[in-house]
Amino acid sequence: MRIRKVVFPVGGLGTRFFPITRAIPKEMLGIIDKPLIHYAFEEAIAAGIEQFIFVTRHGKDSIEDYFDFMFSHSEYFDIKMGSVCYVRQNEPKGLGHAVLCAKNLIGDEPFAVMSADDFILHTKSCIGAMIENYDGSNMVATMKVAHSEVSKYGILDVESENGRLIKAKSVDEKPAVEDAKSDYAIVGRYLLSGKIFDVLSELKPGVGGEIQLTDALLKMIPQCGLTGFKFEGKRFDCGSKSGLLAAVLHVASQNEKLKDVIENFYKGEKR
Ligand code: G1P
Repeated sequence: MRIRKVVFPVGGLGTRFFPITRAIPKEMLGIIDKPLIHYAFEEAIAAGIEQFIFVTRHGKDSIEDYFDFMFSHSEYFDIKMGSVCYVRQNEPKGLGHAVLCAKNLIGDEPFAVMSADDFILHTKSCIGAMIENYDGSNMVATMKVAHSEVSKYGILDVESENGRLIKAKSVDEKPAVEDAKSDYAIVGRYLLSGKIFDVLSELKPGVGGEIQLTDALLKMIPQCGLTGFKFEGKRFDCGSKSGLLAAVLHVASQNEKLKDVIENFYKGEKR
């Protein structure tokens, strides 16, 4: 099924990275020479997505400035005029609310949502691989996490597994460790039915007082199902300091010009 549009929710406050995120959006934190949002954008382009919607807010203008430059230099992104738009999320009311802000720009077609702080190194494109397997149900990228970590994520209740695909019978946002139905966590890649906007607009605040996308996915299971896609490749939680550091080290270690720096650093530490 064709997916033409992606939503990048970039309106979060980035509290885990205070103080730097008082002035720099967390999506602009760098993996060496490119910000996180650049990698997510490349992943969307590689998946054949044609329209890019950023849900942004006060203090995030550097994302727009960055892409103004990128789009005027075709060696970075050669995209059609008018294929990018920005919509504001004026209150930090959660991921579900951020997605709802894009409603009028999406209409009722299926679309992708990508969180830049989930940095995924896939052989091709994680969201592209999801699109290849998309059947019209709501779909989320998923991976097993340590059981002690489940309360940081949306967690799937698995009905059945078939290769990379998991059929979920339920989903819980940030369950207590003792309540989690599995260790399959939602990672920030989604393919969603356009019908989700009707559900999101009726939702009451959930965990943390926020409008939770996970709650909308749960409500829609009877009508359109929920599929988990076990993606291949490495994922770094760049919404955390340790994840960002690991991502930087990984990318540097793959770079011919930088890998010696890492090796020499560890040699020096051991001396
Ligand atoms: C959001 C979602 C959660 C998901 C996570 C993935 O949580 O609400 O279901 O597992 O992203 O990164 P957040 O990290 O924004 O609190």
